[in-house]
Amino acid sequence: MQFYATGATAARQKTACAIVGIHEPATMTAAARELDRAAGGAIGRVLRRGDFRGKAGEVLPIMGARGPAERILLAGLGARKGYGRKAYRRAVVAVTQWLAKGGAGNAVSYLAAEAVPGLEPYYAARQALESVESALYRIPDLKSGRKPPRPKLARFGIAVAKADLEAARRGIRHGRGIAAGMALTRDLANLPANVCTPTYLAGRARQLAREHKGVRARALDVRAIRRLKMGSFLSVTRGSDEPPRLIVLEYRGGRRGAAPVALVGKGVTFDTGGISLKQPPGMDEMKFDMSGAASVFGAVKALATMGAAVNVVGVVPACENMPSGRATKPGDIVRSMAGKTIEVLNTDAEGRLILCDAISYARRYRPRAVVDIATLTGACVIALGSHYCGLFSPDETLAAALAAAGERADDRAWRMPVAEEYAELLKSNFADMANVAGREAGAITAACFLWKFTDGLRWAHLDIAGAAYLTGSQKGSTGRPVPLLVDWLIHRD
Ligand code: BES
Ligand code: MN
Ligand code: ZN
Repeated sequence: MQFYATGATAARQKTACAIVGIHEPATMTAAARELDRAAGGAIGRVLRRGDFRGKAGEVLPIMGARGPAERILLAGLGARKGYGRKAYRRAVVAVTQWLAKGGAGNAVSYLAAEAVPGLEPYYAARQALESVESALYRIPDLKSGRKPPRPKLARFGIAVAKADLEAARRGIRHGRGIAAGMALTRDLANLPANVCTPTYLAGRARQLAREHKGVRARALDVRAIRRLKMGSFLSVTRGSDEPPRLIVLEYRGGRRGAAPVALVGKGVTFDTGGISLKQPPGMDEMKFDMSGAASVFGAVKALATMGAAVNVVGVVPACENMPSGRATKPGDIVRSMAGKTIEVLNTDAEGRLILCDAISYARRYRPRAVVDIATLTGACVIALGSHYCGLFSPDETLAAALAAAGERADDRAWRMPVAEEYAELLKSNFADMANVAGREAGAITAACFLWKFTDGLRWAHLDIAGAAYLTGSQKGSTGRPVPLLVDWLIHRD
């Protein structure tokens, strides 16, 4: 799909489909008025007949009107009062869903030709692009029937005021990167666990490095992981016949020698719970337990695609969590790379066990910040549902920067506490700490477990258990939090 910014007005631009906004109740935006004149009053007639009131998220096509547009697509923006980025985004999504089903090979959107309150032109363009690409995303499924025809839409213009052209072009460039990153994240996370193994992920990391100069990939095997003394990571993979990998992705787009940001992604390619076996209903969704890892791949892909001037190192511990005669048992004590001993009271709390060693490994890059991303706890889903990720950090500045990036990128995270009172719940009589506390504050105690491995680091943790994928009839990866991560990374310099 090709995107471009244009300063041309609706009356002039020839297109297979012109998209103009209508506010409730049936009030034309400036672009709609202009196109209406060029189209011999076709829009006004539709509105007067009461066929379209402009409700946010609704669309109505007008076919066969005069003028420069073969089709006119009216997009509802809701009432002018209270109009903003939310209604804008809803309109863009509705528009692309319509376009994806139709016959138009190209389209121009005038929805950002007028200022959207609270949304800079840069973000208006970027979000249009992200929305269009994600509406067009198809799961690489293994259905054997005929595939539905590919959408015809190949070129999409984003009209903006002439003064905003440059900002819109930047938005398009960044949006393209983010969309490519999200698509990679979704592809990886949507794959079944019998395909997407740790070995497979390592191969995809190498592929990423081949596709983008500036990206390097390495994958350590079980012997190398043993040499690193990652006893905690290894305790999770013990029950599985599938060999683990420690995958390292480096993207160098910034100054040589400038300290990188480390992104650490949970890569449990399937989480059965281990000996603390999970219940059968919904267990298939534990193929998504490598969504944190997938978002690290996606963020690196995005940065490399847009050529961002940052240095990032992705660290992905990848393994399966399986029960077997060799599996770690409740009560087993393991020694982490950092030297701390851990009593594994529940083998289903495995994410923190692989992440703590990966965080220790990230230290060798002397990172200026470490952010881990993990489908870590069901408790986070109970607390926040799917709209916000959980954001944990003892560092005020880092927490604020990540939360702000989430707001800007429309990929939100809500801060939760990290505090000694919660960390104390992880006391053990037999080891330095236990891997679980009680039922209370499960998302927080999980974060506090990781916190104990971050001495001297600027660290934040994103619990994406609710945000990373949808369930039910919409089941599938969302590609989050790639927009948040990338926005934060490109905003910092
Ligand atoms: N991968 C799960 C967390 C999860 C649960 C993600 C539901 C998405 C949806 C994690 O490894 C896990 O099993 N966590 C346990 C921790 C508990 C044993 C302290 C949980 O949340 O139940
Ligand atoms: Mn688990
Ligand atoms: Zn898990």
